[in-house]
Amino acid sequence: MNRISIVQHYVDKIIENIKSDTERKSAIIHTYGVAQCCALIAGRRGLNTELAYISGLLHDIYAFFTGSSLCHAQSGAEMARPAIRNMNIFSDEEKKCILSAIFYHSNKEVVHDEYDEVLKDADLLQRFLTDTVSLINERAVPRLNKLLNEFDIEAASIDYGQNQETAAEPFKKSLFADIAEKFAGQNICGERENKTFIEIIKYYPEASAFDELRNNWCAAFVYHCALKAGMELPIKQPPIEYRFAGAGAWYEWGKANGFISHDNGGFIPERGDIVIFNHIISPENKPKDSAWHDHIGIVLACEDEFLVTAEGNIDNQNVSGIVKRRRDHTIGCFLRIPDGYQYDGWKCDYKASRIYTL
Ligand SMILES: [Fe+2]
Repeated sequence: MNRISIVQHYVDKIIENIKSDTERKSAIIHTYGVAQCCALIAGRRGLNTELAYISGLLHDIYAFFTGSSLCHAQSGAEMARPAIRNMNIFSDEEKKCILSAIFYHSNKEVVHDEYDEVLKDADLLQRFLTDTVSLINERAVPRLNKLLNEFDIEAASIDYGQNQETAAEPFKKSLFADIAEKFAGQNICGERENKTFIEIIKYYPEASAFDELRNNWCAAFVYHCALKAGMELPIKQPPIEYRFAGAGAWYEWGKANGFISHDNGGFIPERGDIVIFNHIISPENKPKDSAWHDHIGIVLACEDEFLVTAEGNIDNQNVSGIVKRRRDHTIGCFLRIPDGYQYDGWKCDYKASRIYTL
């Protein structure tokens, strides 16, 4: 099989799982149309048409997998990363090129590297050619006009989408805490039969997700509650090497965003803060040489020397609940995410992170 066929096989399997006939059909038309536009544009610009075609094939896989467009470009790069690594058919440079194009493809008002630009342009050209311009955000219209000019395509005046941004409610700490309290109180058990647990781990595309997260889902619980509370966040934020399904990722991300506080001198934990615990799991319940940040939860209340928290996988017992914790050395730090937080992690230098080589 040639490389395009190998990637097609992988993408076809994802598209086949889309339940709605109409959505499955649009996914096929869009995916293959964008891939062909990528090859055409790349050829015209003297770039590698095969790599461009492959980035087009892969660009929306996370949206097809989850049924949601939320951070699908950044999460899509993270979904494609292990997939193309395991194909063993691309060099590190080629992986960087493909994954970077996927990562940035939603940011059409900004100019990135040449292959990133090919994919963004192809995404618009496919919409234009198939008369689905209403799906083009008005902010991307200057890019489309420039592209039509480059290819000498005459376009009559067209009504582009006025505002395609989904008016999602912005992140709210109080809602975050309410949601966490509700889920934690359901005493969710980390088993396949538990529908809420399956919802909590649905963001992770690999078939191994259940086995990896079972007895290890406190951070996945926090991620799920955060998204339900309106937070935009991909499953992994470069250059952080872990996904938000691990407490370490929350710590690194919190540090990078200035959200970390410690429970000393003046800082009083509040409802809706995230708490990262420090060696709270007993050694017999966790792997040897584990990092200090071995558990994470959401603060519901601070009562003198106690915290009330909503947690998934309490004490690695594979169940969620509401817990009263002592404010002692087992508290590592807190993350206080401001109301209205807006994701801007796409501004990172994807190519400078080394996660595409992992
Ligand atoms: Fe997309």
